[in-house]
Amino acid sequence: MTYGATNPELQNKLDEAFTAILVEQSKFMTLKSADPQKVEETSQLLESYGQLRGRGFFYPYLATGRGHGPFTECTDGSIKYDLIGGIGPNLLGHSHPLYIKSHLEAAALDSVMCGNLQPYPQTFELSELLINAVSDSKLKHFWYAGSGSFANDTALKMVWQKRAPAYKLIAFEDAFAGRSVATQDITYNAAYRDGMPKKVEVDHIPHFDINDPEGSKKRTLEVLRNLLEENEGEYSAMMIEIVQGEAGIVAGSRDFYVEIFELAKSHGLYIWIDEVQSFARTHKLFAFQHFNLEEYVDIVTVGKALQVCGVLFSNELNPKPGLVSGTFNGSLSAVLAGKKIVRYLTEGNFFGDSGRIAQLEQAFLTRIEKLSNGSCKGKIGRFEATGVMVAFQVGEGSKESTSKFLKKLFQNGIIAFSAGKDPVRVRFLPPLCLDEDHLDEIFSIVEKTILEVES
Ligand SMILES: Cc1ncc(COP(=O)(O)O)c(C=O)c1O
Repeated sequence: MTYGATNPELQNKLDEAFTAILVEQSKFMTLKSADPQKVEETSQLLESYGQLRGRGFFYPYLATGRGHGPFTECTDGSIKYDLIGGIGPNLLGHSHPLYIKSHLEAAALDSVMCGNLQPYPQTFELSELLINAVSDSKLKHFWYAGSGSFANDTALKMVWQKRAPAYKLIAFEDAFAGRSVATQDITYNAAYRDGMPKKVEVDHIPHFDINDPEGSKKRTLEVLRNLLEENEGEYSAMMIEIVQGEAGIVAGSRDFYVEIFELAKSHGLYIWIDEVQSFARTHKLFAFQHFNLEEYVDIVTVGKALQVCGVLFSNELNPKPGLVSGTFNGSLSAVLAGKKIVRYLTEGNFFGDSGRIAQLEQAFLTRIEKLSNGSCKGKIGRFEATGVMVAFQVGEGSKESTSKFLKKLFQNGIIAFSAGKDPVRVRFLPPLCLDEDHLDEIFSIVEKTILEVES
């Protein structure tokens, strides 16, 4: 099947444009400090932008749209390592050839967005790729959604419709599910719903504690058992991030998940996994596969690294007509990129215990450990990584001290972000294109910055 405007001459021009863009972007592959004159221009621009938004930005950061691999150029003229990728989406790195190709292919199509009343073969093909990738589970359908939060709203409606009027949910302490009216109630942090009426009845139970695996499992099971017994028949689902992102990269063990899922299932709850942040970042495409939990999963939400968002669900959860719809599935370039990303990752050497993601996980852990036992002894607290989701505590781990570290790190050439509370930790959601030289340079900057702020 041919898609969009196509003829040999046009194809040649697109190929030429592809090469020209890639060559040009590849010039932005080394660190560079800011140009003082552009710093001033950027700060004025950000000031005006902040006024329009109603609030300023955490970093003095605007992207020029130039950058390659882990590097991104900012409007102040600096080129920095981007280790947060827009909080997750930029898994492959800047101007990855597959991103450029997706944009060019989409440019030859006739529209910008696709949707439920404007489907394309490509939206079908991406759904098929995702469903084939979970053939070992009950998940048989994929429904697009406009954001991670809306994917979660859609999943919530699906489980509610099947279990009505059992509308209560079990979720986890420190969970983050999004910012919609419904997901702000599943999100644990009450400050994120200040002044909002509470609409969804959610009981939060403790997640795994790596410092006390057996004790934390016992505590979680006990709290869960009590809630299920006290509110028998009132819960529709248990919603969980298997790797909690915003909480500071908190992951349990298979044994922990199996026991709580068995208990939840024995009381009729659906198991709903939020993989908006963890998708494609663990040793398997899905974190539930990483922990071998395929048999338990009823519904899964995805977003970020996939470039589009949506819900995978079982036959049983297929809703009645009218419950879910919406104008957009996503942009055509995003759908094309999503397809290429899934194929690239599943057909390449990224997953498995010796795949690139596992290697990067080890590389980050080894380097943090080396600093923590060496030049930065006593200045690094708890650190963890699950695949390419990494977090470590600097100093006392307060909100203020971590912000200070992050802002200094930014000045020194690395964009990262925070995660968690008590302690707040530094979070990296790094791209897969990092090599050993990048990692050496990154960790010499991390070391320098820790020594600067924690002297
Ligand atoms: C686990 C998780 N769920 C849901 C969301 C919400 O996704 P979005 O910001 O695309 O609405 C996020 C965003 O950070 C997330 O990390």
